[in-house]
Amino acid sequence: MNSYNIAVIGGDGTGPEVVREAIKVLDAAARKFSIRLDYTHFDFGGDRYLRTREVLPDSAVAELRQFPAILLGAIGHPDVKPGILEKGILLRLRFELEQYINLRPVKLYDQRFCPLRDKGPQDIDFVVVRENNEGLYTGVGGFVFKGTPNEVAVQESVNTRRGIERCLRFAFDLARKRRGGAPWPGLKSDDVAAGRKAQLTLCGKTNVLTYAFDLWERAFHQIGQKNYPDIKRDYAHVDATTMWFVKNPEWFDVIVTDNLFGDIITDLGAMIQGGMGIAAGGNINPTGTSMFEPIGGSAPKYTGLGVINPLAAICAGQMMLDFLGETEAAGAIEKAVIRTVVEKIKSLAAGKMGYSTSQVGDLVAAAL
Ligand code: IPM
Ligand code: MN
Repeated sequence: MNSYNIAVIGGDGTGPEVVREAIKVLDAAARKFSIRLDYTHFDFGGDRYLRTREVLPDSAVAELRQFPAILLGAIGHPDVKPGILEKGILLRLRFELEQYINLRPVKLYDQRFCPLRDKGPQDIDFVVVRENNEGLYTGVGGFVFKGTPNEVAVQESVNTRRGIERCLRFAFDLARKRRGGAPWPGLKSDDVAAGRKAQLTLCGKTNVLTYAFDLWERAFHQIGQKNYPDIKRDYAHVDATTMWFVKNPEWFDVIVTDNLFGDIITDLGAMIQGGMGIAAGGNINPTGTSMFEPIGGSAPKYTGLGVINPLAAICAGQMMLDFLGETEAAGAIEKAVIRTVVEKIKSLAAGKMGYSTSQVGDLVAAAL
């Protein structure tokens, strides 16, 4: 029997509530597919910080490195100044565990949840590969003359050839897999049957960011030409990308982009797939410890009410199993989510699902 030790960080706000449901569904899948999952819970987050003034103990990263995967609820607390927990926990783990890919599938399961007129599940099914260790997120920069009328703030985007190349290769590989290679991640048999073309879109801003995206673009075409001639290369500026998400989302297959652009376009992506209630992502280190999370925040105003939608966390659990190589179990969770969403759920929004948080977990577990 395959067994996995999973680190769990419920985190802030509604994080622990949604993670509980994800574990409920993971356990149901584990029973069905004879997998063993053991969980170790960590209490990192705003409450611990307010109690101890410690964001992440120094031993934490080394400890988490021992796990193949981390399941994360949410980070962000209304009583803690923005940036402290996000940078101190989420970004620190992404960086120190070298989770250099942030993988965000954008897939619509039911037309009812799409805010775009005339778009359905056949139109919205793509994946964003967001670079997750560099760009404007590294914290390079600083102030001069802070607090005076002459103050200057500089925040620089870091783009390394190595960081860009490993991200591009991951994205090209994914585009290839979606068409028909090994079934991870995100391969959809319908795509294969439909003969859907493997296409990788580089989302950038080559018309203004003429250093950073010049490097991205050159690496993109060099690697693509040499190693991935079977993948169609496509380019879109980031502003145009947001327009296409709304106008022609069916254009996209796999999109690769830098850290900040990826952050921004995936919130829009989440909206066209039905909202934060369903959007999941994985912070991937292909050879190390990866971390899976619902991409929405900690939703403090809903905390403890049992109204938050756990489907995004459940889908994060599904991505985790997929990544661990348990593709069959992961596929079964996705099917159970689709069935639940199509047959039962009234709305994906908090408080409007027609069921409580734990009932939605029960429904998915039962559908399994
Ligand atoms: C996300 C979040 C984070 C990010 C924040 C909380 C730092 O918005 O995961 O997309 O910007 O990456
Ligand atoms: Mn974000």
